[in-house]
Amino acid sequence: MKILATRRYPGPAWDELSDVEVIPLADVSAPRSGVEALIVANEPVPLELLPELRIVANFGVGYDRIDVAALAAAGVTVTNTPGVLDAATADLTFALILAVRRRIVEGDRLVRSGRWRGSYADAFLGQEVTGSTLGIVGLGRIGAAVARRARGFDVRLLYAQRRSAETEIAEYRELDDLLRESDVVTLHVPRTPETEGLIDARRLALLRDGATLINTARGEIVDEDALVRELVAGRISAGLDVFAHEPDVPADLFGLPNVILTPHIGSASVQAREAMTRVVVDNLLAFERGTPVPTPVAA
Ligand code: DGY
Repeated sequence: MKILATRRYPGPAWDELSDVEVIPLADVSAPRSGVEALIVANEPVPLELLPELRIVANFGVGYDRIDVAALAAAGVTVTNTPGVLDAATADLTFALILAVRRRIVEGDRLVRSGRWRGSYADAFLGQEVTGSTLGIVGLGRIGAAVARRARGFDVRLLYAQRRSAETEIAEYRELDDLLRESDVVTLHVPRTPETEGLIDARRLALLRDGATLINTARGEIVDEDALVRELVAGRISAGLDVFAHEPDVPADLFGLPNVILTPHIGSASVQAREAMTRVVVDNLLAFERGTPVPTPVAA
């Protein structure tokens, strides 16, 4: 099976694939005959350039930039990599929570600037995560992994979810109430037509003064302009790993001490990325054998 991949994906499983051409989609300008499989990282699929395509293996759990319905209509199978990146993403979420609440990046910048003049009793005071209220929006696999990490910090855990989940690890709240009651709100819903703009200007205004918003899900879930306004006003703080127009990030955020910006690295651990490649390869090999693919995406 001839495979096109938009880059070389990490890990030993990669070598189990034969007949792979690595090429960014931007460089595919004319129709390619014979290509039956495509490996992408949540990128739009140019079906018109790949007329013999039969399977798209997405390197990632989120596939919001892939038109799954159009591919299904064309008889193309789509797979993703659920499960293997939950720990990495939950770890990064917690790293951002701690870093924002305890002003770690701000402190690092001061020390590196050479302007630090000593430790004063009233300098660099942050907020303890211990004992705070953490609101998790979307208690799926990643949200639940964040909840498990939060237990060690003795936080009060709230969660909001479209369909109520049976759980004892957190107390259910309507989204607006969760936003009003939490010290830290962290987003873990996929980007869908229902969740795009979910945290709009009205909902951002519900956050407490001094609250922290963490987004390791998708930038489009938040009204980015409204978020920038709240952050510039200094009313809230944030840890943002994802943005609405990646890799563009609103320049107004760059000078702000109350926001930490990371370059979409939720799943960027060696372990998660190698496991993601393993899942991609397993899907392709199963497809080639004619057996059910392990992690299909439902159209
Ligand atoms: C995902 O899996 O959706 C991540 O955003 C990719 O790193």
